[in-house]
Amino acid sequence: MANSEYVLRAATADEHDQFLGLFAAAMMFEATPTDLDRELFEPERALVAYDGDQLVGTAKAMSRDLSVPGAVVPAAHVTAVGVRATHRRRGILAGMMSRQLREAPEALAVLWASEAGIYGRFGYAAAAFGVSYEVDLRSVRPRPLPSDSGRIEEVSAEDAPALLAPLLQALQATRPGVSGRSEQVWRQHLQDDPAHRGGSTARQILVHRDESGAVDGYVLWRGKMNWGPTGPAYEVSVQELAALDPTAYHALWLHLLTLDLAAKLEYGHAAVDEPLLQLVSNPVALGRRLSETLWIRITDVPRALAQRRYAVATDVVIEVTDDLIEANNGRFRLTGDAEKATCERTDAAADLALSINELSAAYLGGRGLAEFATTERVTENTPGALAATTAAFGWPLGPQSLEIF
Ligand SMILES: CC(C)(COP(=O)(O)OP(=O)(O)OC[C@H]1O[C@@H](n2cnc3c(N)ncnc32)[C@H](O)[C@@H]1OP(=O)(O)O)[C@@H](O)C(=O)NCCC(=O)NCCS
Repeated sequence: MANSEYVLRAATADEHDQFLGLFAAAMMFEATPTDLDRELFEPERALVAYDGDQLVGTAKAMSRDLSVPGAVVPAAHVTAVGVRATHRRRGILAGMMSRQLREAPEALAVLWASEAGIYGRFGYAAAAFGVSYEVDLRSVRPRPLPSDSGRIEEVSAEDAPALLAPLLQALQATRPGVSGRSEQVWRQHLQDDPAHRGGSTARQILVHRDESGAVDGYVLWRGKMNWGPTGPAYEVSVQELAALDPTAYHALWLHLLTLDLAAKLEYGHAAVDEPLLQLVSNPVALGRRLSETLWIRITDVPRALAQRRYAVATDVVIEVTDDLIEANNGRFRLTGDAEKATCERTDAAADLALSINELSAAYLGGRGLAEFATTERVTENTPGALAATTAAFGWPLGPQSLEIF
């Protein structure tokens, strides 16, 4: 690691609670480990840094999949990154990141960053933006639903994973940036410790069923009682919404936007191109705020580029520089289209040159390579290659990350 005073090694299963305790202290929250958290812990993918016998650093990767343009691929889901406050800025994070990225068996790593300044130096880049809504329900004016022969009903947390999982998978087929969930991960996602509700109700799980009774949409949300000087001003907090079908999508949003007593609705995971924008006649009342969501780091250039698909046919030679992973340096020929792709090392002259950060930023199709040419972070050697490759890396729907992991 960057600082050899500390021992860096893989964790053991019995270190889970200590591991979580250190991360929670670094992030300043109270953690109550559950049996499910312990079951999902992958100690061989969790790094611990020790100063003598004191645990001073943690970082782990979860084995999950991620939707990328045209495919669903394994991605190291990096989380629980923390360094004891007494040991900051001594290179402990740098040591953990370097080892984790070099050892990852997947071709890419993804994370949500607590602060935007941390991860770029390790080759990560913001590959998706998301939108938070703070909706003024009294002025939003949702469009009415033309007709709905289906219905909305409540389901229990017990029944939810089996009903909801196929919808998340369907979303993965159209939207890049969606993390897959095993049944255990679903159960963890739906844990609802009263101590963490902050005065809100228990989580409500609603599904939309079509005429035949099949579930074609769901929403996870909570309400919070609040009285203002003019009467009820309740708050609705939407955690997650996914729908297979336009009617289900519209019906679920209409249900939420017209709840009795409510004055405000918050939703933190909208896509930049969220269809809800088209279903309200006063979008400014959505109170939109843009921020970075998923950060991506390609760990294996040819494998990562061959794993995704391309919006239009491409045949391009890309020269990549990577300070951390030696094998990513050099020129690679990428050929691909919407059905298939190959990427191999080549001696041919490069059409485009960039660092691993820009390639990672463009990987989900949510940011164009051309954006980085303006700041000279992508160099075009062959006229036309930049526009053509930017188009190829794009995707019809923008990326959307539904959960902070
Ligand atoms: C962020 C954190 C993990 C950094 O750990 P650390 O061991 O102090 O980091 P390092 O000493 O290895 O720093 C490596 C580099 O990152 C920089 N860096 C570290 N934390 C940074 C931050 N929050 N913002 C910007 N740069 C940061 C360092 O200055 C250093 O830069 P250099 O290479 O130019 O010298 C640690 O401060 C922490 O636990 N913070 C609170 C919890 C948190 O935010 N975790 C991240 C969750 S996504």
